[in-house]
Amino acid sequence: MAVAIITGASKGLGRALAGALAARGWDLVLDARGEGALKEAAGAVAGHGTRVVALAGDVTDAGHRSALVTAARRLGGVDLLVHNASALGAEPLVPLAELPLDGLRRALEVNTVAALGLVQEALPALRAAAGAVITVSSDAAVEAYPDWGGYGASKAALDHLAAVLAEEEPGLRVWAVDPGDMATGLYAAAVPLDDDPRPAPESVAPAFLRLLEERPGSGRYTAGALLERR
Ligand SMILES: NC(=O)c1ccc[n+]([C@@H]2O[C@H](COP(=O)([O-])OP(=O)(O)OC[C@H]3O[C@@H](n4cnc5c(N)ncnc54)[C@H](OP(=O)(O)O)[C@@H]3O)[C@@H](O)[C@H]2O)c1
Repeated sequence: MAVAIITGASKGLGRALAGALAARGWDLVLDARGEGALKEAAGAVAGHGTRVVALAGDVTDAGHRSALVTAARRLGGVDLLVHNASALGAEPLVPLAELPLDGLRRALEVNTVAALGLVQEALPALRAAAGAVITVSSDAAVEAYPDWGGYGASKAALDHLAAVLAEEEPGLRVWAVDPGDMATGLYAAAVPLDDDPRPAPESVAPAFLRLLEERPGSGRYTAGALLERR
């Protein structure tokens, strides 16, 4: 059975994606820092009869990244790596004039550096499986929204890493995916005063399934466009 590593899988999009993949028979290695919520999420998706390994830890910890890949190898390999865990850099978001530099460093460390670290750790297994990497992006990577500058810069850097990785590793699929706005804890933390209705992450997961089913070429995709074509 195919094996996926999903970071940030205790809530929001990562959890929705874990549920969608488990329902299709994928075995999963899931991560998040908070152990209680992660175990609860893993228990909920394991109900589909899939094998689920939940490892609590921070994606910025090299030892934790190594443990995630080791766990996936024990399940059979790495067919899919989803780097979904993310940091905003400031909660709520603030203009660049006020952005703490440590916040920017944290966003870059979680969103960008950890993603490459995990890819490097998983590359031998991904190559062996002719597997896929999904980096979860944002429209803030390509649009200049006030307050979203630090987070957006980290996602723009992540997009670029994904694009270059795709050139360097033609045997893999490397998809950067902008999921669009979703009603999640991350969005609420970013903009607490914005209570406009937003789609649930479960409604966005089918866009990712489409990539896995159709395996289009490596590149940057928006969930909105993928869902429209469904
Ligand atoms: N929500 C939106 O509107 C939106 C829009 C565009 C893009 N995105 C992107 O979509 C992805 C998912 O976001 P979401 O909205 O679903 O967020 P969410 O509901 O807040 O979930 C984030 C998940 O990541 C985990 N996490 C955070 N930092 C981590 C770390 N350092 N190491 C390991 N796990 C970590 C969290 O658990 P712990 O806190 O317990 O670690 C949680 O499981 C992110 O890449 C985000 O940038 C979201």
